[in-house]
Amino acid sequence: MPVLKALWAGSSATLHVARNLAFRALPGVSHGLLRLANVTGRGAGREGSSAADYFSAVVGDYEAMAEYTRVSGEGGLFRGRRVLELGLGNTRSVALLGRLKGAEQYAGFDPFDVQSRDRAYLSTVYEPLLERHREPGGMARAEALLSDVPVHTTREALLSGGRRFDLVLSRAVLEHVSDLEGLFRDLAAVTVPGAVHLHKVDLRSHGNQWDHELDFLLFPEGLYRAMASHTGLPNRVRVDGYLDLVRRHGLALLHASATRWIEPAAVEALRPRLPPSFREKPASVLSVLGVWLVLVGPEHPLAPRGITALDAEALPRAPAERLSVY
Ligand SMILES: C[S@@+](CC[C@H](N)C(=O)[O-])C[C@H]1O[C@@H](n2cnc3c(N)ncnc32)[C@H](O)[C@@H]1O
Repeated sequence: MPVLKALWAGSSATLHVARNLAFRALPGVSHGLLRLANVTGRGAGREGSSAADYFSAVVGDYEAMAEYTRVSGEGGLFRGRRVLELGLGNTRSVALLGRLKGAEQYAGFDPFDVQSRDRAYLSTVYEPLLERHREPGGMARAEALLSDVPVHTTREALLSGGRRFDLVLSRAVLEHVSDLEGLFRDLAAVTVPGAVHLHKVDLRSHGNQWDHELDFLLFPEGLYRAMASHTGLPNRVRVDGYLDLVRRHGLALLHASATRWIEPAAVEALRPRLPPSFREKPASVLSVLGVWLVLVGPEHPLAPRGITALDAEALPRAPAERLSVY
């Protein structure tokens, strides 16, 4: 490995191992610091009215994918539904629009307790969001819509309400989950058998790279676990892992498509230096850097039409013409 890249790898590993130790020893303090710093998870500059643009687009994308895959209800995606959103970031903006659009119940689950408690900050996002959707009433209206939208931060709290959700949403979340098996087991326990799941997964490096988008795969498995297990650093599961996960948990795959990718030749340039678990994967798998997944429970009317034979090598591209740029 070139010297500069080796230096980058060494300093990234040191920094992330130290951060992981801190998150593991003092989760409350670490989450509090993330909250104070208003770490949003939605990318730089997406504050205030830019955040409102982003969340409007996020909701629009969920609706577009639901329409495209025919899982919208009669009154749209949200009307009458009992929604669970995973990994909300520091606001309940998607929840706000979901309730406005008629969700019967709405709850969040995020084990990182990063929801902002700062009313003035939240109003800079919620007020323009309601305005964009022509809803009067400002922050008071936002608070009324969100008054019965809890964000559970523990598994116990999520599970204690029993089987109740019929729509599960996530965007830029599953790649941060260190125990996907556990999460999908919990989802099975809290969703009805005909539930719909819409997930957009970002398989990129999240900035942990030197000069190649797959540099974060270079770290050996054990070292990476020590860097990432408690901080939400990407879990490095590739698209084939998500397809297997869905099958193992008895969900029917209605749709999977790539949102981002690199050329297979770029994968080959890095392949010789990848740890064996990644080196053995086909270029068509390693080249996928983002994916939409639309899933339904076994008793959903469309479940028999689930895709049984799709493997990651034959993944189509997402219908970009229907989706936002985010
Ligand atoms: C990149 S942010 C995305 C936030 C939001 N969905 C958005 O689009 O702005 C990732 C979110 O996933 C949350 N997260 C991390 N691990 C999680 C887990 N195991 N279950 C649910 N959420 C998780 C993080 O705390 C954070 O809120």
